[in-house]
Amino acid sequence: MAIIDKSNPFPAKIKERSLLNKLGSTKQTYHIVLDIKGSGLSFKPGDSIAVIPQNDAVRVQEALRTLNANPEDPIVDPRSNQTMTMGDYLTYKVNLTRLPAFAPLLPRFYSVASSANAHPDEIHLLVGLLPDGVASPFLCQTAQINETPVPIYLQPAHSFFLPQNLETHIIMIGPGTGIAPFRAFMQERLHTQSPGKNWLFFGERNRASDFFYEDFWTALTVDNRLKLDLAFSRDQEEKLYVQHQMYQQSKELWDWIQEGAHIYVCGDKERMAKDVDATLQKIAQEQGNLTPDDARVFVRGLRTQKRYLLDVY
Ligand SMILES: Cc1cc2nc3c(=O)[nH]c(=O)nc-3n(C[C@H](O)[C@H](O)[C@H](O)COP(=O)(O)OP(=O)(O)OC[C@H]3O[C@@H](n4cnc5c(N)ncnc54)[C@H](O)[C@@H]3O)c2cc1C
Ligand SMILES: NC(=O)c1ccc[n+]([C@@H]2O[C@H](COP(=O)([O-])OP(=O)(O)OC[C@H]3O[C@@H](n4cnc5c(N)ncnc54)[C@H](OP(=O)(O)O)[C@@H]3O)[C@@H](O)[C@H]2O)c1
Repeated sequence: MAIIDKSNPFPAKIKERSLLNKLGSTKQTYHIVLDIKGSGLSFKPGDSIAVIPQNDAVRVQEALRTLNANPEDPIVDPRSNQTMTMGDYLTYKVNLTRLPAFAPLLPRFYSVASSANAHPDEIHLLVGLLPDGVASPFLCQTAQINETPVPIYLQPAHSFFLPQNLETHIIMIGPGTGIAPFRAFMQERLHTQSPGKNWLFFGERNRASDFFYEDFWTALTVDNRLKLDLAFSRDQEEKLYVQHQMYQQSKELWDWIQEGAHIYVCGDKERMAKDVDATLQKIAQEQGNLTPDDARVFVRGLRTQKRYLLDVY
């Protein structure tokens, strides 16, 4: 079987696509099921896939008009030296949202939101729609169900994976689309009947409309397989974020860490991940009676021991 990689991506098709946000939401976040049957792709919880997107047909038409070009006109792609039609060049090779410069159309990465053991031959994604973007409108809107090939390849996670020891507790912090890999984690922990405890901190804007996969998480809490803490930021006047919930539970969180829990953070890199890190340091200071410097060293130590793993973007 040919190796699937950037130069030989697998043409997956979208089997299912559903909007997870309910009426009244200010966001559009889609659950997408890709059919990967026959690909031979082998992935593990924590991995991402790369999607090679294509430009929207309307944008391609506009570019052809602007350039006064015909879709069948031949052109040599300056990056690959391949001869192709102008239509293909504008559809697959250049980022038309970044005009007038002809920047290359690069792959986008998405965390796999399903475990291969729970859903063989499928890859589930959780994609936030950025209407001005390229890949998210392609996945969420323009790619036709069961029709449009979605070229993908695997982006294995080198430092975002479940503990080998099934008894190890895990603490998952994933607001917004950052929750995606934790659905894969929990499907896998159920499949392997891992006895370790599981704790999820999830946050979004509004509980009524933005609680992704609510039934799945709720069922896990009912079965005592998951401790769940929620932070809906816009359901009250004051912002409530995942790190506020972590801080509220400082004592228990510290106990879990002392018992060897692994901590995972996924989602926004710029703000959330930094604030979560600062909160972990604060908890270490207060619960572990550490100086600020020692708390920083302690948290950094968790990183080097691969007990504190990040997948942030
Ligand atoms: C490891 C990893 C995992 C990820 N996992 C997920 C996931 O599970 N789910 C998920 O939804 N996302 C995930 N992402 C983010 C994802 O890869 C994409 O970045 C995201 O979907 C946006 O891609 P896009 O092509 O739609 O938007 P882009 O075209 O990349 O645009 C991004 C933003 O830039 C703006 N922009 C466009 N043109 C310009 C311009 N000329 N000047 C300034 N700004 C501009 C757009 O308005 C848009 O808001 C992940 C990223 C990484 C690195
Ligand atoms: N690099 C890229 O190309 C790229 C592409 C797409 C998305 N992203 C980033 O990926 C992140 C995920 O986007 P998303 O739409 O899934 O969710 P998000 O924007 O991270 O929002 C999820 C929740 O996190 C809250 N939040 C905001 N600031 C926070 C903070 N400092 N600490 C903790 N929580 C905070 C939000 O609250 P409020 O909104 O109410 O403040 C919301 O309730 C975004 O930050 C986005 O910028 C990057």
